[in-house]
Amino acid sequence: MLSEKLQEMLNEQISKEFYSAYLYLSIEAYFLSLNLNGFANWFHVQVQEEKDHAMLMYNYLAKVGGRIILKEIAAPKVEFVSIEDALKTTLEHEQFVTRSIYDIVDASILERDHKINYFLQWFVNEQTEEEANAENNLKKFMIVGNDGKGILMMDSELATRVYVPITSTQTQSTQP
Ligand code: FEO
Repeated sequence: MLSEKLQEMLNEQISKEFYSAYLYLSIEAYFLSLNLNGFANWFHVQVQEEKDHAMLMYNYLAKVGGRIILKEIAAPKVEFVSIEDALKTTLEHEQFVTRSIYDIVDASILERDHKINYFLQWFVNEQTEEEANAENNLKKFMIVGNDGKGILMMDSELATRVYVPITSTQTQSTQP
């Protein structure tokens, strides 16, 4: 039986994941405005992944008989002063999401709710990748700096990212 507290935290996290999708859609729009379609593609894939994250939590709540209470999704940042700003915003946001997931994991340990703790391990692992990807993009950009050729090379590389829907085999730990 899911506690009220964990149910509330998971509902909050659903809105944070949808906010992530909204923020990355905003960053995608910024890159589209610069005609950097590869960067925009990378963020478009990210938007879809964030919606998957939210829906995994939504489906978990439904499966364990929890109440799904959708919250307001705040407007994202819409002004970016530079590519560096957009990439830094992404890394900082992923670090925020990691801390938020850790808070739910901590609460699940305190309550000895092993079921949700097991479910959350997939997200702990996913956050390692999310932060690493965001950091990789930022570090690469810092090497490239304002070199036009370098930015276009990076744009070509980011254009190759393909959305792969999260499958049940990847997320066995999300099965209650
Ligand atoms: Fe859902 Fe990017 O963390």
